[in-house]
Amino acid sequence: MGGVVIPENNQEINNTNIMEKPAGPCVIVIFGASGDLTMRKLIPALYNLSAEKLLPDEFAVIGFARKKLTNEQFREQLSGDLCQFVSCELNSPELQGWIARRLYYVQGDYDDPSSYEKLKTLLFEIDQKHKTQGNRLFYLATPPNLFGTITKNLSQTELTKQDDQTWKRVIIEKPFGRDLESAQALNHELLTYLAESQIYRIDHYLGKETVQNILVFRFANGIFEPIWNRNYIDHIQITVSEELGVEHRASYYEEAGALRDMVSNHIMQLLSYLVMEPPYSFDAEAVRNEKVKVLHAIYPYSHEDVLSCTVRGQYGEGVLANGENVPGYRSEPNVNPKSNTETFVALKMMIDNWRWAGVPFYIRTGKRMTKRMTEIAIYFKKPSFTLFRETVVEDLETNVLVIRIQPNEGISLSFSAKKPKPTLDIGTVKMNFTYSDYFGNKKAAIGYEALLYDCMHGDATLFLRSDNVECAWSTLTTILDVWGTLPVRNFPNYASGSWGPKDSNKLLTKDGRAWRNSS
Ligand SMILES: NC(=O)c1ccc[n+]([C@@H]2O[C@H](COP(=O)([O-])OP(=O)(O)OC[C@H]3O[C@@H](n4cnc5c(N)ncnc54)[C@H](OP(=O)(O)O)[C@@H]3O)[C@@H](O)[C@H]2O)c1
Repeated sequence: MGGVVIPENNQEINNTNIMEKPAGPCVIVIFGASGDLTMRKLIPALYNLSAEKLLPDEFAVIGFARKKLTNEQFREQLSGDLCQFVSCELNSPELQGWIARRLYYVQGDYDDPSSYEKLKTLLFEIDQKHKTQGNRLFYLATPPNLFGTITKNLSQTELTKQDDQTWKRVIIEKPFGRDLESAQALNHELLTYLAESQIYRIDHYLGKETVQNILVFRFANGIFEPIWNRNYIDHIQITVSEELGVEHRASYYEEAGALRDMVSNHIMQLLSYLVMEPPYSFDAEAVRNEKVKVLHAIYPYSHEDVLSCTVRGQYGEGVLANGENVPGYRSEPNVNPKSNTETFVALKMMIDNWRWAGVPFYIRTGKRMTKRMTEIAIYFKKPSFTLFRETVVEDLETNVLVIRIQPNEGISLSFSAKKPKPTLDIGTVKMNFTYSDYFGNKKAAIGYEALLYDCMHGDATLFLRSDNVECAWSTLTTILDVWGTLPVRNFPNYASGSWGPKDSNKLLTKDGRAWRNSS
């Protein structure tokens, strides 16, 4: 996790400072560079890295796509877009010039070997001009059906061939397949042309500071790890809710749905950071081994489990918190009016290992919910009530530790305290840490900075290994199979602006628990 920049000291805090150094010389080649990801995320993230002085002078970016553009047009287009996506305080003409001087464009076809020869020639020219020393990072920011074609052509043009002096790495964007079989086929195809150590499967959720902080929180503090197990924890809730609907992504989302779009990748990654055993070091393989181990320990769903432990939903029309009336999913542009695609999913999951046996994990994610929120709530077991039996106290609340991934990033812990009055009465109070109160109140990063920087350094800790991807899919395959054979009859089953279908509440109430619907 080399990219985690530990900012300047807050006066009250003793920070551990890591000396950050710029990445080594290299060229980043972005395939699909005319697309949305390049404009909104990748170039702004590189800009932010250059503002942090984490890019070397010996650096360049080549955009590759079918769209006809000259170098100048590519530079102009991205410089124009850049202003919208980087924070104002970082927006400097000098930095923009620094990036623009290093931007190049190759117009070509993804399946045409001569386009790769053209790219190869330009790479050699850039090596001379910018002293980039033959190191290459190929970023596949195209639709996934092109990943195999591009790696095959790169390999056949010897652009991915490494030697003792140079490295060649390939970042693959999600989705990594749409089920276990297609994920295995994609891995097989990639591994025909590349070594696993050259493949960096990216999940941008892992670039978020607050996600990386889960590991720091667990393993850099002495007080939490001893209670991070079934002896102390009653259950865990993970919520990833969006207020937005499907927006302009209907053609993709109709094929994917909430389980594939959110659970197979982001939520499985969050979960594995939360529950994995301590790795022996922050070495990439050590961390990734532990992540895979815990995914293997997820209790497999039987067909009956799918019926009793999963809930799917689709939003109907409704009213958002700001009073806006919004249409149902089936009335959104490019959505089939009879669509059975789920926009909400809730799951109860069990992890069958020594640390977690018997602790339920309740997971939910959906679109058009009450508010945008990603949080993990850890409910500890209740203390004994004996002491309070003869008092007015009717019940004791459990301690809840909440890790807020977004928005209002931070961590809070609720606990019981005596109300200030002559008789014994107890109320719940909160200790609250908010990121923005510490560490110099830095503007939230794009999320791709750490990932790009780490890849340039050859640190794969935050990237997914092939077995990690396949393991996550194998957990979800039974759900996909059962859902596929049992078409839903009650869609839409939740109103936009709500917390999801009623059945999602039943998933917890039948266990004597309830979702934490924070307001
Ligand atoms: N945008 C995001 O925020 C985001 C977030 C997470 C993951 N991703 C993933 O990152 C990759 C790129 O995302 P993106 O949003 O930049 O995608 P995009 O805008 O749809 O496509 C990127 C480029 O791919 C090329 N392309 C080639 N064949 C295409 C086809 N059949 N349909 C559409 N485009 C085609 C297009 O360039 P030319 O036609 O000029 O060659 C297009 O500009 C995708 O795999 C996506 O799932 C994106």
